[in-house]
Amino acid sequence: MQQEKIIVVDLGSQYTQLIARRIRELDVYSEIRTTDITVEGMRKEKPIGIILSGGPGSVYEFGSPEVEKGILELGIPILGICYGLHFIGRMYGGKVISAKAAEYGKAELHVVAPDSILFKNLNPDLICWMSHGDVLKSPPRGFRLVAQTYHTPVAAMENTRRKLYAVQFHPEVTHTPWGVELLRNFAYDVCGASGTWRMASFIEGAVNGIREKVASAQILCGISGGIDSLTTAVLAQQAVGDQLYCIFVDHGLMRLNEADQVERVFKKQFRANFRRVNAARRFLGKLRDVKNPERKRKIIGREFIRVFEEEAQKLKNIKFIAQGTIYPDVIESHGVGKHAHVIKSHHNVGGLPKQMKLKLLEPLRDLFKDEVRKVALGLGVPERVVYRQPFPGPGMAIRIIGTVTPRKVKILQLADAIIQEELASSEIYADIGQAFGVLPDIKSVGVMGDRRTYGYPIILRIVTTTDWMTADWARIPYTVLESISNRIINEVPEVNRVAYDISSKPPATIEWE
Ligand code: XMP
Repeated sequence: MQQEKIIVVDLGSQYTQLIARRIRELDVYSEIRTTDITVEGMRKEKPIGIILSGGPGSVYEFGSPEVEKGILELGIPILGICYGLHFIGRMYGGKVISAKAAEYGKAELHVVAPDSILFKNLNPDLICWMSHGDVLKSPPRGFRLVAQTYHTPVAAMENTRRKLYAVQFHPEVTHTPWGVELLRNFAYDVCGASGTWRMASFIEGAVNGIREKVASAQILCGISGGIDSLTTAVLAQQAVGDQLYCIFVDHGLMRLNEADQVERVFKKQFRANFRRVNAARRFLGKLRDVKNPERKRKIIGREFIRVFEEEAQKLKNIKFIAQGTIYPDVIESHGVGKHAHVIKSHHNVGGLPKQMKLKLLEPLRDLFKDEVRKVALGLGVPERVVYRQPFPGPGMAIRIIGTVTPRKVKILQLADAIIQEELASSEIYADIGQAFGVLPDIKSVGVMGDRRTYGYPIILRIVTTTDWMTADWARIPYTVLESISNRIINEVPEVNRVAYDISSKPPATIEWE
């Protein structure tokens, strides 16, 4: 049976994925397509609805993103958002002009046609979130004005006969608190969604997709110990069983005892073809005297590929590689648009297949972290593993500021284990996104008993986040901070202070390097 879905066409907005995610949260499957999709391609996909995302530019700029007009005329319900509204407006003869005052942030919206299906069960006066420099001057022929703001003459419009709807504001962001209701009205009342999609359907689709692509070939999967690569491996295993080979490169920079846990889960629970390579000395050797964060990342990434390749070469007939790339990796590593900055190079994205000439499988590429967790639970991965905090590919190396030595790795592992234990037994554990220690390249004077000490501080970094693209420092009860600090200072030699990092992301990042 064809899966009911709404397609989001990406016209360049930074929120495209968020739109797809909101629709999935409404139990309607949603996927993203680029503007290359043709009328015929869209017809074949048979979506129940289409959303045209916002975009950074002006519809009049040379090279501004477009979709074929025929797509608007397929009779499939369409919702244009922001630039999507300008695009629809212009296609039907409306005039888009540069606004007298660009509107960024909160705006008061007045619904002038409260009987519009998009605004069903919503107040006529609402706060919405805007981000635009252009406005549509008036609705084109055949369209009716639905909502306005002080600066935006057409904040919402519709042509119900053609099933075309458009809004200037962003219903997908949380700053438009009722926006999800509007998306629900579009998905259910305009598109007629039945709301039967669940993560189980995603799993079924992903497993079938892998099986079809791979047929009788063999898949290689690099395991990092994190939930993303584990979920990818389990999906692949469900699809092709023994045709999957997992390689776990242990770089010696993981949490205390974590490499052993990873091995246990794969070998005992999933009985996968699993090989662990102990490469700690090799990685630490390459990192000797290296201080620069990006160089550390690059070295670890490169070495990871080398070790992985050496191991993979021992296997014959591998044609595919499965990677646990998730959506935030895609945008943080590659940037959303052509001009976005690369903030940090993640060693788990890209790289491998290019060199190894393997075809890439990335079943989780469209998902956010919390969605990956739902998939993992659906696959039977134990909760304690699913809810384990994310851990960066380069591991402790980017939490040790300055040079990385075996001793420093040990200090940080011991401190980190205490942090994890203390938090796990506290009431706040479930609210925390990520917690870890950072070992800076400084020492300070202390006194223990009657002796002077000269030791390292450990910086505690504990954040709350849902998407890992933004984060806030966690408001931890003093009693918990106190027990973490006491234990670290008492139990980890060479540490005589604990400090707490109170920075949000942005402007800081979660990791220190
Ligand atoms: P930042 O420090 O960029 O981190 O705010 C965002 C999230 O990404 C994790 N992270 C990584 N994950 N490979 C990974 O798999 C990496 O190279 C990497 N660097 C950072 C980080 O722990 C946080 O969850």
